[in-house]
Amino acid sequence: MAYRSALINVMAQAARKAARGLVRDFGEVEQLQVSKKGPADFVSAADLRAEEVLRRELQKARPTFGLRMEESGETAGSDREFVWVVDPLDGTTNFLHGIPHFAISIGLERAGQPVAGVIYDPVKDEMFWAENGQGAHLNDHRLRVSSRSKLTEAVLATGIPFHGRAGHENFLAELAAVAAEVAGIRRFGAAALDLAYVAAGRYEGFWETGLSRWDISAGLLLVREAGGLVSEIDGGNKMLESGSVLAANASLHEPIRTLLRRAKQRP
Ligand code: IPD
Ligand code: CA
Ligand code: CA
Repeated sequence: MAYRSALINVMAQAARKAARGLVRDFGEVEQLQVSKKGPADFVSAADLRAEEVLRRELQKARPTFGLRMEESGETAGSDREFVWVVDPLDGTTNFLHGIPHFAISIGLERAGQPVAGVIYDPVKDEMFWAENGQGAHLNDHRLRVSSRSKLTEAVLATGIPFHGRAGHENFLAELAAVAAEVAGIRRFGAAALDLAYVAAGRYEGFWETGLSRWDISAGLLLVREAGGLVSEIDGGNKMLESGSVLAANASLHEPIRTLLRRAKQRP
């Protein structure tokens, strides 16, 4: 049984508690699909309810820490160093469509750097967790990124920009440059889980732009702690600020980056 620190226990318990409500609400969504109004309002209420549970649980356990939450924004803590970075529902579009692939993501940052992270997929009961220097885990098992080193055997995940997002043309160029070289590309619709799956060796890599801090704070740590590399797509290391992410195992990070760079250079 993997040793979980008090901090990880706090995060995992908060995630499980909030997930109970999400799973109940997910069950309702299918009923609502058929109603005229549709489930959109209901889903945003579910999202807010989950965030409130997380806020309550995390504040109760560590009253001095700050909070940065997707729905309610920032709350400064008396401790200026530690901040929870929370996405109460990653994969909202899936949730709304009754697709069972979504998660709660909780990161803890110290002076702006991720030091602990939990990503919980309640449908599959998969708790991904990592702490700085302590490795990455899925439930009770230690995680390692995949050892595949050939692009032709690699399965990559990505995020496709959608209505209201920028970068459509650029994305299509990236897709064209990468698709011809790899075994497959997936778009599952929850960036936190995409990163967790890289940490678990399910995907060899993942790239996306336009992400927010709460999508990636926990996941970046998971990938690093599982032995993978993370950077911005152009190789920089301001992922949390820019929202540009390329995560992969150590053998394939550079080859994937080269393909993405080639896409950028196309006329
Ligand atoms: C979204 C998901 C999606 C990614 C989007 C995110 P949300 O988060 O992670 O996979 O492509 O960029 O905004 O809105 O479901 O929390
Ligand atoms: Ca998200
Ligand atoms: Ca969200």
